[in-house]
This record gives sequence, C-alpha cells and structure tokens, in this order.
Amino acid sequence: MTPDEFRRHGHAVVDWIADYHSRIESFPVLSQVQPGQIRASLPANPPTQGEPFEALLKDVEKLILPGVTHWQSPNFFAYFPCNASGPGILGDLLSSGLGVQGMLWSTSPACTELETHVLDWLVSMLGLPEKFLSSNTGGGVIQDTASSAALCALLAARERATNYDSNKKGCDGRIVAYSSTQTHSSLEKAAMIAGLGVENLRTIEVDENFAMRPEALARQIEVDKLAGLVPSLVCATVGTTSSNAMDPIAAIGEICGQHNLWLHVDAAMSGTAALCPEFRHLQDGVELADSYNFNPHKWMFTNFDCNCFWVADRKALIQTLSILPEYLRNQATESGAVIDYRDWHIQLGRRFRSLKLWFVIRHYGVEGLQHHIRRHVELAQQFAGWVRGDDNFELAAPVPLNLVCFRHKAGDAVNQAIMDRLNRSGDLFLTHTKLKGNLTLRLCVGQTNTQARHVEKAWERIKEEAEKASVAT
Ligand SMILES: Cc1ncc(COP(=O)(O)O)c(C=O)c1O
Repeated sequence: MTPDEFRRHGHAVVDWIADYHSRIESFPVLSQVQPGQIRASLPANPPTQGEPFEALLKDVEKLILPGVTHWQSPNFFAYFPCNASGPGILGDLLSSGLGVQGMLWSTSPACTELETHVLDWLVSMLGLPEKFLSSNTGGGVIQDTASSAALCALLAARERATNYDSNKKGCDGRIVAYSSTQTHSSLEKAAMIAGLGVENLRTIEVDENFAMRPEALARQIEVDKLAGLVPSLVCATVGTTSSNAMDPIAAIGEICGQHNLWLHVDAAMSGTAALCPEFRHLQDGVELADSYNFNPHKWMFTNFDCNCFWVADRKALIQTLSILPEYLRNQATESGAVIDYRDWHIQLGRRFRSLKLWFVIRHYGVEGLQHHIRRHVELAQQFAGWVRGDDNFELAAPVPLNLVCFRHKAGDAVNQAIMDRLNRSGDLFLTHTKLKGNLTLRLCVGQTNTQARHVEKAWERIKEEAEKASVAT
C-alpha cells in the first residue's frame, strides 16, 4: 500500500469509525449471534491473491459487525466499562502509524519520556503520593492490564521478601500473599504464575459492605508467621469488581508496615474517580502503598489497553525484572541516565501507549475529565435513588460511585429473567454478580456518551421487563 493509497483508505476507515459512532445506538448492545456463526460466514481458506481494500471494509460491515458487542454504546451498563474517545482512538492510530517499539529508551526516546512525563502528571491529577514520581524513588509505567500490574507487584514483593533469592532458586512453597474474598481473580492468577501457588494466596474475609476486615488480615499474618511462612504482599482494592467495595487502605497499610509487607492497591476502575478531589477519601491511606494501579482503559476515555502502574521503590521492581543480554546493551543504558521500561514489566517489547493517554488528557483537560466523571457518578446515584424508592427493588450494596448493585425482591429466578430479557432485547446490556448468595444485577455508568436519557430509559426498561418476568415466573 503506497502512502497515497493509505491516505485514501485511511480516510475511508476514519469515516467508517465516525459513522459507526453516530449510529451506534441502532445496534443491539449485546451481540445476538450464536456460537460459530461468525466463523461459518468466513471463507475456509485465505485469499491467494490480494483483495481490494474496499472489499475488506465491506466485510467488516457485513460479517464482523453482527458479532460485535457494542462496548462504546451509551446503553452499555455491563461489567465495568471499557470506554474510549476520539482523542484516544486517534492517539492509538498515531502509535500504529509510527510503529515504534519502545523496549529501551534508545529504541525511541520519546516513547519512554512521554510515558514517564504523563505518569508523573497523573500522580498529581489523582492525588497520589509524591514517592510515585519518577523524580523521587518511584515512577510509573504503562502496562497492558491490571492483571499484569498485579503480577509485577507480586513478583517484586516476592523478591523483596526473599532477599531476591526466589528469582535465582525458585519458590519453596513458604511465600504467602493476601487478598480479600472480593479481590479480582487476577490476583489468583498472579499467585499461580509467580510460583506462590493458589493455596498460598490467603483470601481474607470481608465485612457487611464487602470490604476486607483488617483485624482478620492481621490475625492471618500472625498465624502464617508462626507457621514459619514468609508473608510477602497484601492487595487492597479501591472499588472491587463485584460490588465496588472499598477496602480500608489506611488500616491495611498500617498492618503491612508492621510486618514489612508490600501493599499493592488495585483501583482498576474506581481510581479514575480520584481525578475529583471530593472522591479521594476513598483512597485514604494510599500514601502507605508500595504500588498502585488504575486502568484509564476502563473509565478514563482511553481505549483499551492502558493500565497505569506506579511503584514507590523502582529499584525493587527493576531488580526483580531486569535482564540485560548482550544484544540489548547500549550506551544510554550503560550511562544509567535513562529509563528502560523493558525492566518494568513482563514482556520485552512495548507499544507507544502514552500517546493516546496524552491526547486524552490534553483534549479534555483535567476539568473536562472531572466533569464527565462527576456526571457518571451523579447518574448512577440518581438510578440508585429510583431503586431505593421502588417497593419491588432493593439495593444490594453501598453505592460509593458509579456502580449500582440491585435486585428485584422476588428472588433469583426473576432477576435472572429480567437480565436475560433485557440483554436479548438489545436495548441495553447489564451483567450480574452474587452478593450474600443472591443473584444481583449490576448497572455501571461509565460509557463516554451515556446521558440522563439512557439511564432513565434503562430504568423504564428494567421495570417493564420486571413486570413481565414476575408474571412469567
Ligand atoms: C478491581 C479490578 N482489578 C483488576 C481487573 C482486571 O483488569 P484487566 O482486564 O485490566 O486485567 C478488573 C477488571 O474488571 C478489576 O475490576
């Protein structure tokens, strides 16, 4: 493809994307295809000869679009959001256009330095402790996901707890880590990959609001120490996936301090709320954290994938993950004057992800971002108010931000039927969780273009389907 052809087809693709976003509300939010349907519509063999580009774009429309669940629809209320925005998409396009692989500072200085700079910006934007700044002992790095961030934190914690011996000799089954029963499953996966073993990840009980009980954590650490085990890390969550519960970071951090444990704070979605000073109390105690992460790809308008991960002591992370084969040696690295981000995560190669984050922050400005976050929280709180005021429904958990956990009082079968009917209708997309053994519906407001009318319509549709489901079950 010549640059001129690229320009022509590129314009067509950008037009297609703009049109897609304009007509996104006309599609069923949850894809309605059956398993295997998309593959059955694709040719069995790859083309022997190249095809005209127009045919590709036509097939996206005809063959691919029916199998797309429209995460960018303003009627998407499922899971946690994975929102995007024009500036984010264009930043990502530029990253593809430059095609940079930024494993070392020297393989593209701008890729490293913009990332360091934007992550330093975010420290003050989110009210995070200054120790996370690159000019201090710490620093930030963009990971693909919160799962990778958790794994890196656990690896560094494991090394710190074993005086950097487990990297050399492997784990001996004595290293333990702590999360709550509500912590995201990525911690369990990290314990598997890091060689601790799932049985050595203690899941601490939670209180009536689904937040970790610090006294239970302290007890378990004592028990483990008495048994000759080696406690390494505690993961506390700002906004659990199931119900948006807030672990008490300050109390947990104090316990970590007493036992010299690594405190990792996972704020995957709710971390974005800290852009607004009035929500920062939810992360009180974050100054005690050894590492912290949040996903701009969830709620901060930066298209997937983009996780921001900070450590207080970058030396511990680098000592854990650094390997320098001869073929990567270079003068800048030897000088010690640069960051080589390959030492800050699992993989070697890396994309120029900070471009999209930089574009998003510059396009909206801090006040623009705050405006949208506040609006999402306001809409979710309004929805929670409607649930509270309806005799047939009840809230199933506190609503600190933009996730509402609620249920119809008639029980699991009715709630399942409400959700299935709504999702089949394509009008909106909701998902569920189980809280205190009961099937619970979750409505999360965080899609970039969700407005009051979408949330109002969602509530109307929920009540409509609830009536039908109550009659049918
Ligand atoms: C609290 C929390 N942590 C971690 C994750 C995992 O996110 P990722 O897909 O970025 O690994 C999620 C996903 O929803 C989450 O809610």
